[in-house]
Amino acid sequence: MNFKISMAVCCFLCTGILKHHHGVATAGSTFSQSRQLSCLFETTETIPLLTEFKYIRQNAWLLLSGTESKDTERPHPENPSAADTITFIVQKSSLDILQHVDEDTDQLECKISRYFTDNTQILWPGLQTQLHKLDSWFTGTIKHLADKFTVTVFLVQSSASKEAEIRSPEDVSEGNAERFYLSGVFLVRTGPSLIQSGLNKDVLLSCAFSVDHHTDVTIKWLLQQKGGHKSLIFTYNGSTGQVEHKDKRAEMFLAEIPKGNASLLLRTVGVKDAGTYSCSILVSSVLWAQNIQLEIVEKPTVTLNADVLSLVEGDEHKLVCDISHFYPHDAETQWLREPMEQGMLPHVVTHVVSSSHRQNSDGTYSYSSYFLLTASLRDDGRRYTCRVEHQSLKHPIKKSLTVKVTESTSATWFLVILFVLLAGCLVVMLCYLYQGMSTNKPKPY
Ligand SMILES: *[C@@H]1O[C@H](CO)[C@@H](O)[C@H](O)[C@H]1NC(C)=O
Ligand SMILES: *[C@@H]1O[C@H](CO)[C@@H](O)[C@H](O)[C@H]1NC(C)=O
Repeated sequence: MNFKISMAVCCFLCTGILKHHHGVATAGSTFSQSRQLSCLFETTETIPLLTEFKYIRQNAWLLLSGTESKDTERPHPENPSAADTITFIVQKSSLDILQHVDEDTDQLECKISRYFTDNTQILWPGLQTQLHKLDSWFTGTIKHLADKFTVTVFLVQSSASKEAEIRSPEDVSEGNAERFYLSGVFLVRTGPSLIQSGLNKDVLLSCAFSVDHHTDVTIKWLLQQKGGHKSLIFTYNGSTGQVEHKDKRAEMFLAEIPKGNASLLLRTVGVKDAGTYSCSILVSSVLWAQNIQLEIVEKPTVTLNADVLSLVEGDEHKLVCDISHFYPHDAETQWLREPMEQGMLPHVVTHVVSSSHRQNSDGTYSYSSYFLLTASLRDDGRRYTCRVEHQSLKHPIKKSLTVKVTESTSATWFLVILFVLLAGCLVVMLCYLYQGMSTNKPKPY
């Protein structure tokens, strides 16, 4: 990570110097303005006697040659950087790379690797193949630092460009700097590599491709779930136009495929749809797959068993906080005893019990967190808060209730007095009634 950052800083400095020396606006400019990108060229080397690989990384530049300016007039990157910088010059072809990666160059991270063809010659329409030597294939992967997209371009060092390299030996003699003249022939672009979605939403997994000639492509969308289980979601066979899909909720935009749109739409996603999706595209004999991870994240619903609790001193009452229908499994709950004065910190209630998680039919989880409160007069007017943290939440959910506690002794005395008074009144009234009746009674004689 630090390395990447320092590379980005270095790139920024280099382009800054370029801007100064050549008057070409590159720092903070988009790729289509500067037409050059600082890259790492990564090769592997087997360590003798060990079956291990060693990665060798070298600074490199990816240049897009254009018709408007000849290469010789362009600010050549060997000027500001070390002598061992490799330059990959992508010659103009019918593949429009810039259309897919046009962003600020300081927002792009680029890596170039060799693409091993298993000692077979890839027959690619439009490429002149050599009889005695395999074409050299490379992949250039350009990632947006804020994960907007990932683009992989297939680059071929064709025989025609090798002549050009031979014809300009003075370029090769400058230090160890090497130059490769390449053509971009095939490209795959995926959108964000991590998507988080709530339940029952529609999710678009963005994938696009471009090929330098008109051809049939075969597109496959595969899903690998957490346990490792793999399933085929959608297949499109370009030569027959046949589609095959297991899940009717998954859709591709068939009319858009000829335009290079291989995106997959998943409708009303559920917990089971989480996993790593790969968009794989087969052109001629070149197969490339890029991954998109889908995470299902659902917010909990938090409810308390009361808003206001009226208790009598000494009563015991269960304060229950229900945390329900959330995903994934991990949620943190705390009960807080709020201070009576402002500016004080709440106390965490320690004797809290949590029920075990219940899994609902939609795959989400629910549980409750409770404690037994013994009402004391000191707690009259106190607020208790249930605080829930979950990865779906930017801020924790807080639900509070207020406890009202009345004095038990005063209450009973009040009742006793009331009872005595009422009883007294009743006795007095009955007496009067009796007396009255006995005086009003007509005498039997
Ligand atoms: C496409 O379908 C045809 C005819 O069924 C089949 O021969 C071919 O192998 C399929 N292509 C791929 C890449 O699966
Ligand atoms: C593909 O087509 C769909 C539907 O028209 C659109 O929403 C999506 O943005 C397109 N994706 C790409 C990568 O072109």
